[in-house]
Amino acid sequence: MADKFLTVKEALDKEKGKVSLRGWAHRVRTFNDKVFVVLRDSTGIVQCVIKPEQVGKKTFEESRKLSVESSFTISGELKKDERAPGGFELQASEFEMVQRAEAPFPIAKAEAESPEFLLDQRHLWLRSRKMTAIMKVRDTVLGAIRDFFRKDGYYEWSPPIFTPVACEGATTLFEVKYFEDKAFLTQSWQLYAEHGIFGMEKIFTISPCFRAERSRTSRHLAEFWMAEAETAWQDFPALQKQTEELICFIIKSVLDKNEAELKELGQDSAKLKKIKAPFTRMTYTEVLKFLKDKEKMSVQWGKDLRTVEEEALMKHFTTPVIVTNYPKEIMAFYKPADPKDPKTALCMDMLAPEGYGEIIGGSQRDLDIKAMQKALKAAGEHAEHYGWYFDSRRYGSVPHAGFGMGVERIIAWLCKLDNIKDAIPFPRTMLRKTP
Ligand code: 4AD
Ligand code: MG
Repeated sequence: MADKFLTVKEALDKEKGKVSLRGWAHRVRTFNDKVFVVLRDSTGIVQCVIKPEQVGKKTFEESRKLSVESSFTISGELKKDERAPGGFELQASEFEMVQRAEAPFPIAKAEAESPEFLLDQRHLWLRSRKMTAIMKVRDTVLGAIRDFFRKDGYYEWSPPIFTPVACEGATTLFEVKYFEDKAFLTQSWQLYAEHGIFGMEKIFTISPCFRAERSRTSRHLAEFWMAEAETAWQDFPALQKQTEELICFIIKSVLDKNEAELKELGQDSAKLKKIKAPFTRMTYTEVLKFLKDKEKMSVQWGKDLRTVEEEALMKHFTTPVIVTNYPKEIMAFYKPADPKDPKTALCMDMLAPEGYGEIIGGSQRDLDIKAMQKALKAAGEHAEHYGWYFDSRRYGSVPHAGFGMGVERIIAWLCKLDNIKDAIPFPRTMLRKTP
């Protein structure tokens, strides 16, 4: 076989000449005098024809055993062919089976399969064009988050995953056995990050987070990845601006790198191109008025916005909206009262259009230990377990703020997915922990 394998993309860029490729049989059609096989690798697909007069009778017979997903290597002349899928065809001069796949491949006609069946077969479905396209966008999103923060002088900083206390309320904690004791899987890096800033000032992470959320919606995972930032000296307006800049930076990176994948997924990139900062900002109180006026929906002041209300609001927007100043009482203990309107907190949620829901949650951080202890108690938590956290307000406390962005929520939105489960290789939800 040839000395050097090219990827399908490298071969198609070359357009013609002798090439050697390796990959998997995406589609196969076998005849007595020829075999058509569409080779797939991580970079694309190309149609290959294998004929006995070119590869020899023995090799031809071997190639006739090709089944869907068999792995093989092939060499030959590549040329343009309008009729072939992808516009090129490779006339094989050499062929070698690496492993003949057992037949039939469990996923026959993906379009005809139920989402649950594809989730049961996730380990195999990950090879599909759809999942590959999503995972390439995911790679871009993760890279863009890192680029965004690094260019702004942030350090990547790693939180623990086993934790002793709740950050986002005890009701969604996963408890695990921890030697003779118990611990919880982290819901957010935040309480640790608020100590991290004293050494590093500007830090970020992309880390797994766990929430035992009993919701079977298309936007909740039990295990998801959160990109979080915590910044010393940051005020609330600067926090909001940073979140919209991050979103625009991610979108630009995806448009630059993943035009082909967006197309494959049926996403309209022109729509994404129109998303520009600044995003609309509304307070919670303004949202209630808006819902009343435009949607005839009445929400009692003090109640959190539910999915239906968020969706009703976002019907009116094609770019994300930043909602600020939710009622202080229903917010996490670390969100401070707004001095200008103490019934509300200096906090924000960013909502995505098209029903993709909350993509970012962030806030200024309370510096008043007593106020936080009171809020913890009101939420039924043990304030005494947070002593180590309150030390962040005892030794040179500074104003600071931070936020968390659901990585899979962003991917689901940008890739126009029906369900957040497709935004991560192996989704974990209340009803699924396999494969
Ligand atoms: O709004 P949340 O709960 O905020 C926090 O955890 C803060 N401590 C973050 C911070 O300030 N450092 O979660 C942040 C984001 C949400 O806006 C949402 O995008 C995502 O995390 N998220 C989930 N994504 C998927 N599945 C779930 N169950 C999620 N829960 C939250
Ligand atoms: Mg939130």
